[in-house]
Amino acid sequence: MQRETWATRTGFVLAAVGSAIGLGNIWRFPYVTYENGGGAFLLPYLIALFTAGIPLLIFEFAIGHKYRGSAPLALRRISEKWEWLGWWPVLVSFVITLYYTVVIAWAVSYAWFALTQAWGADTKGFFFGSYLGLPDTFWPTGGLQPSVAIALILVWIASFLIMVRGVSEGIERANKIFMPLLLVLMLIITLRGITLPGAVEGLNHLFTPDWSKLFDGKVWLAAYGQIFFSLSVGLGVMITYASYLPKKADLTNNAFITALANSGFSLLAALGVFGAIGFMAQAQGVPVNEVAAGGVGLAFIVFPQILNSFPALGGLFGFLFFVALVVAGMSSLISLVNVVAQSVADKFGISYKQAVIGVHVVAFLGSLLFATKAGLIYLDIVDHFINNYGIALIGLAEVVAVFWIWKIFGPLADHADSVSDFRVSRPWLLLSAGILTPILLTVMAWKALAADLA
Ligand code: PFF
Ligand code: NA
Repeated sequence: MQRETWATRTGFVLAAVGSAIGLGNIWRFPYVTYENGGGAFLLPYLIALFTAGIPLLIFEFAIGHKYRGSAPLALRRISEKWEWLGWWPVLVSFVITLYYTVVIAWAVSYAWFALTQAWGADTKGFFFGSYLGLPDTFWPTGGLQPSVAIALILVWIASFLIMVRGVSEGIERANKIFMPLLLVLMLIITLRGITLPGAVEGLNHLFTPDWSKLFDGKVWLAAYGQIFFSLSVGLGVMITYASYLPKKADLTNNAFITALANSGFSLLAALGVFGAIGFMAQAQGVPVNEVAAGGVGLAFIVFPQILNSFPALGGLFGFLFFVALVVAGMSSLISLVNVVAQSVADKFGISYKQAVIGVHVVAFLGSLLFATKAGLIYLDIVDHFINNYGIALIGLAEVVAVFWIWKIFGPLADHADSVSDFRVSRPWLLLSAGILTPILLTVMAWKALAADLA
């Protein structure tokens, strides 16, 4: 079967960056940084980036490029009996799309609400009550929530219209529009955030290091977790994207560009978000840490509150913020859907287009579960397991297999070197990705399991 390739060199980098930059950068990174020691978190974060994030990116690019296949096909080419290991990330990617689309759908609705600030004064009551329709029983049931379901349909239609055009006409072209657009949106939002009255207080909070946190194991695990999720490694996304590269492509260089662009964007988002939080704290006369709520709440409850008290143009800035979330989310979503579609196409000999149609139908139906009145509850549970076991365990299996089972570390590094301008350091890769990362990931999965069983 003829395999598509990226039309341009920048097309691949933009698609990889588009996958990396997502919901995780805009609301997760600022919050995780704040929770884990503010300025002091940056040290574990950078260490995780250079010991796990970048090495894994180089390996995933090299695996996809050398063996020219989605994760299961690439693994079958490495060794027949390991193909099953490649289906594991495909399954996890599929499950993530089911609820990632729902969070994007919320952002679509909120971009619309922002124009008139339709959420009113009680932004919390609006989000959980009027919008999600969450029943307050212990094990809630209840049918579809129409406000969420309609936005969800739009998200899946947009994803379908992009992907049905294929890799270069669809994914590549979409990212060529999405990434510059996202950068402009984020620059506007950040500039507004850091120039709001009181912004300095928020930034102080973000960057005042709490050095004692450096001795807390949880902080280091949070740093590795953030790096894996944020760089989209461990799910076969980058393996599949690299399989569309032409023979000549600088893998090592592209891995560094992707990682640095992703971290730079996270920093930009954190500045804007914490500037806005400082403003809110000043306006309400409360300490900054009372405003800085995490996760879903930060984007859909705290942000609408902040926009309500904007000096001017709160509606417009709100619209831009939620559009930025949608754009960041869509470019990550298509990378996940692509893993599933390409793996199915590679395995069953159907065309990419047929696989795209099939995956959209099944995933759309599955995602409806999270658009029910109890959807948020299911979302929390599934997300917890995916983040704590799914991604970390696949990452662990990946490094152990590459270094210690298949022992293809040398050939992969040689392969990366053969197409790159500079040589990757073998001791760096071996010590960081071959030894340190598996130990840390084992500890991480172990701790999560112990906490869940307790
Ligand atoms: N990297 C994306 C984010 O930070 O939001 C999320 C993501 C996309 C994770 C694709 C994993 C993945 F394979
Ligand atoms: Na993205």
